[in-house]
Amino acid sequence: MAPRRFLVLVLAVVSLLAGGIALVAGQACSTTGNFTSGSQYQVNLLNLIGDLPQSTMDNGGFAESTAGSAPDKVFGLAMCYADRDATQCRDCFRDMYRDVVQSKCRFSREAKACYDACFLRYSDLSFSGVADLGISHYVWGVNSYVSDMESMNASRWSLMTGLVPEAASSPLRFANDSKEYTDSQGSTQVMYGLAQCTRDLSASECTRCLNKFVAELSSSRPNNTYGTVKGYSCYVAYRVGIDLGITILPVTAPPPAPVHPPVVFIICTGILVWFLLRRCRKKPRQIEHDTTDEKALQDEFEKQAGPRRFRYGELEVATNFFSEDKKLGEGGFESGRKEYISEVKIISQLRHRNLVQLIGWCHDGSKLLLVYQLMPTGSLDAHIHDQNNIMSWQLRYEIVLGIGSALLYLHQDSEQCILHRDIKPSNIMLDASFVAKLGDFGLARLIDRDRQSYTTAQAGTMWYMDPECMFSGTASTSSDVYSFGVVLLEIACGRRSIVVVSNTEEYASIHLVDWVWEHYGRGRILDAADVRLNGDFDAKEMESVLVTGLWCAHPERNLRPSIRQAINVLRLDAALPKLPKKMPVSNYLSPFSKRGSEPSTQGCH
Ligand SMILES: *[C@@H]1O[C@H](CO)[C@@H](O)[C@H](O)[C@H]1NC(C)=O
Ligand SMILES: *[C@@H]1O[C@H](CO)[C@@H](O)[C@H](O)[C@H]1NC(C)=O
Ligand SMILES: *[C@@H]1O[C@H](CO)[C@@H](O)[C@H](O)[C@H]1NC(C)=O
Ligand SMILES: *[C@@H]1O[C@H](CO)[C@@H](O)[C@H](O)[C@H]1NC(C)=O
Repeated sequence: MAPRRFLVLVLAVVSLLAGGIALVAGQACSTTGNFTSGSQYQVNLLNLIGDLPQSTMDNGGFAESTAGSAPDKVFGLAMCYADRDATQCRDCFRDMYRDVVQSKCRFSREAKACYDACFLRYSDLSFSGVADLGISHYVWGVNSYVSDMESMNASRWSLMTGLVPEAASSPLRFANDSKEYTDSQGSTQVMYGLAQCTRDLSASECTRCLNKFVAELSSSRPNNTYGTVKGYSCYVAYRVGIDLGITILPVTAPPPAPVHPPVVFIICTGILVWFLLRRCRKKPRQIEHDTTDEKALQDEFEKQAGPRRFRYGELEVATNFFSEDKKLGEGGFESGRKEYISEVKIISQLRHRNLVQLIGWCHDGSKLLLVYQLMPTGSLDAHIHDQNNIMSWQLRYEIVLGIGSALLYLHQDSEQCILHRDIKPSNIMLDASFVAKLGDFGLARLIDRDRQSYTTAQAGTMWYMDPECMFSGTASTSSDVYSFGVVLLEIACGRRSIVVVSNTEEYASIHLVDWVWEHYGRGRILDAADVRLNGDFDAKEMESVLVTGLWCAHPERNLRPSIRQAINVLRLDAALPKLPKKMPVSNYLSPFSKRGSEPSTQGCH
């Protein structure tokens, strides 16, 4: 293969922050071997980029994934820098999407970009696990120098070299520390430092990268009060006097579950999601020892019949000591003990044919593990996009009604109104007879029926999330209905939530809702039906699913149906709604488009 050429662009962003820090960003795109508009590679790339920022945010600031299969497979990786917060990182991905993916590196098979708060890289070749020692750029404090270069340099060296082994051996591949030193005027200064590697690297690769960057730091900026070196595999920064403002993003949602044969599904509060083997179903042994605290917790849960307590040891054995190969993903709650107790109580009370059932729980010290019914068939996401086994319409229609019925139960029929907040195909599990079961209640929150909305931390997955709520951070039943709408369209169209449209020269990626609405506007909605079905479907059912999908995903929240109204149309018990021919407000062109920057105080209902 001919060596690939790279176009390296370093753009200096004009603004200087109040602290006098020069902001720079760098990126490198391949300039040979470009893909073409509308190619499979592009589709895979957009699918990858569609999920990566959100999974990075959900996964503690780092994510790695692939899309498609060879020869069009795309490998991707993204990270948030540890001295930036979640909002800065999210905004950074938005800018990067516009500047890099849609613009400067538009047709490049390979690209890497380091911005102020985040880092993104993708390629048609796997690069996981190997440190890239290239330096993207330096950021330093402008016109701000220490008075005593030598003693600062010595302290910096000892601070930063101390961080290298610590970061390399930490699971997050991150370390920060501070050190005092005395300058020539005899005053004591504090210096803060951090070292961060991408989490795909082994300890030795991380060390290799950091050693080089730490050396760069001393030689490039000998006497500035602030300095960083940013690259494609690691990052180092120091600052004198002001701490670096470290934000370790929490792990908030489990990544999509791969299709796997094991048997029980667990969420471990604060940490992990595991699948277990059937062995853990054996009768629990007597609990030998309990602190009063644990006893109270146990009593609280056991008041309800159903889910039972597992011993930690049982789960340990069943998962082979939580071995990596049995691990399906990670998830957790940011909330305190009180919140998760109430969460478990809510989840354990839920009983519905179309909800993944909680089987048990295990409480051990600071960890809470939830054991769910196993869904051996995997998630809807894997099946609906399986190119080898096209899911029949009959099956899809049953799944649509099943999810609808689960949501109706959560919103209206259960004792308390419950929001799911993260409805998407990878959270819809299928049992052995392909009955749909809504899973992952990690984000479910109890809401007060009177209040109708609940202010939340950023949650849900970008492309399925009500755009109005995405930035205001308030969820409600109507935002669940929105996500349900996108899922309906995905099931009926057999397309992902982002569609690549192309004619000879032009290409664009648009949201599935816009795409289907265009067909609706032309009076040819059935053209949006999954072509792989070859017309083998009941036209009335298909039309009702497509039109209800649009109705649910209506940009105006108050024009969306309740889940009950939606179900009536889906079951063909009520007439189709009349929707405008043109989608009312089309602002979905970029998944990051921001409507109304002020946080909404009225909620999303
Ligand atoms: C390949 O695409 C990049 C942008 O992604 C562009 O800068 C470059 O000129 C293209 N190369 C060729 C040979 O067209
Ligand atoms: C800073 O300290 C390191 C380690 O002692 C040394 O190698 C380097 O030359 C020093 N740099 C300057 C500019 O003094
Ligand atoms: C790391 O950073 C955090 C947040 O800024 C701070 O609370 C903590 O003390 C730092 N750790 C060390 C060892 O300095
Ligand atoms: C240290 O800072 C001063 C500005 O105060 C600058 O003129 C000088 O060149 C710097 N020293 C070195 C060794 O770069």
